[in-house]
Amino acid sequence: AESPCLKGKRALVTAGGTQEPLDPVRYLGNRSSGRMGFAIAQALQEAGAETILVSAPTDLPTPPGVTRVSVQTALEMHDAVLAEFNKLDVVVKAAAVADYRPASQAEQKIKKDGANRTIELVPNPDILAELGRRKTSQVLIGFAAETENLLAYAQEKMQRKNVNLLVANDVTKPGAGFGSMTNIVSFLFPDGRRIDFPQMSKLEVAKNLVAEIARLLG
Ligand code: C5P
Repeated sequence: AESPCLKGKRALVTAGGTQEPLDPVRYLGNRSSGRMGFAIAQALQEAGAETILVSAPTDLPTPPGVTRVSVQTALEMHDAVLAEFNKLDVVVKAAAVADYRPASQAEQKIKKDGANRTIELVPNPDILAELGRRKTSQVLIGFAAETENLLAYAQEKMQRKNVNLLVANDVTKPGAGFGSMTNIVSFLFPDGRRIDFPQMSKLEVAKNLVAEIARLLG
């Protein structure tokens, strides 16, 4: 198929798993590799969009032509995305954002003493939900990585976060989700339409997503 043209469009993608520090050497993290988000940034750039990639720590190289903004925590990601939001046409939130962060961060390395420990956690802002409340003309895309009840949870998320397209994937399937080179996804739309894709490389998923984005931008 012809590559869709997104010339003159401004896109932002978030990728990777945020890290929430406990002390100077430890953090709470998750298994996201960043590959899905990096593939989407590459596909958007190749389609002609001016593309910003707000990435949590990952070893992946920045796709050529993409502007990278490196962040560590959910709060840093929140600020980086909100700073750009008004200027954007498209936002794809592929990052695995920590839902909670430690209530406090120790200034020095926490020492062991053999006793049980409890970490108090406080909720992080839901960046995507906030964009959903603020959006004017932006096309907003969310992800739902689930381990059960995939379509029901994804449907609920699409409505609650006010997105134009939700990419749902069952991360327990072999060949899908965190760390994998491939993914098995469904696209859900607010009008009830759904597209189920077979197992594909993350770059192929990204290209299918860019085709839908071009359609949604009209
Ligand atoms: O609610 P859940 O975390 O499953 O929603 C996933 C979607 O919401 C993803 O697109 C993710 O990037 C986004 N999200 C976010 N901020 C959070 C949690 C999730 O933007 N604090």
